[in-house]
Amino acid sequence: MAIVSPSMLSANFLHLQHDIDFVNNSNADWFHLDIMDGVFVPNISYGLPIVQTIKKTAQKPLDVHLMIEKPERYISEFKQAGADILCVHYEACLHLHRTVQAIQQQGMKAGVALNPHTSVDLLRDILCDVDMVLIMSVNPGFGGQKFIPQSLQKIARLKELIEQTNSQALIQVDGGVDATNCRQLTQAGADVLVAGSAIFGAENRTMVVDELKRS
Ligand code: DX5
Ligand code: ZN
Repeated sequence: MAIVSPSMLSANFLHLQHDIDFVNNSNADWFHLDIMDGVFVPNISYGLPIVQTIKKTAQKPLDVHLMIEKPERYISEFKQAGADILCVHYEACLHLHRTVQAIQQQGMKAGVALNPHTSVDLLRDILCDVDMVLIMSVNPGFGGQKFIPQSLQKIARLKELIEQTNSQALIQVDGGVDATNCRQLTQAGADVLVAGSAIFGAENRTMVVDELKRS
């Protein structure tokens, strides 16, 4: 069974409670929250007040994906806002190992995200120290983009590296994930599926969550 993390970027912000309730009552596992600063990625999403607000009624862990420059500046702020898992981009961190340790010292799980052009081999030396690796299967910044098929090979290669290094890291995949590709993703080694438009844009959201879960 995959871990399913619906991306709230595709939720209806006029009726956010309704969409939070949907996730609470579904078989989904986490809330995926995308934080964008308009510098690391060309888009600006939402920030700490929305994370705090979601935390008040979310009954599942908050999986926070930081698409921001120098994310080490905000680790304690996101902890206070309610993040349970904090994921930073490899490309945005100069001292990635230090940042991963700082996240864990604050009592959160630490994830490292890789853009489509970043090789998974670059993480080899710190794989044992991270709790999760996020393979971006689109260029980060927007929901509703098309899945990049080469991501499957990256997942398979990362799985190999995790086994070779006896790492416990989970493999998360984010971008263009839907009911048509979820099976291939979990077969390649993905443990956590993030989906935004495939879930919130569906007529039957419950069915999509269950299909992703079963993949
Ligand atoms: C993209 C974000 C994703 C996004 C996924 O930069 O990291 O989490 O919400 O959206 P879909 O599932 O629509 O591709
Ligand atoms: Zn994301």
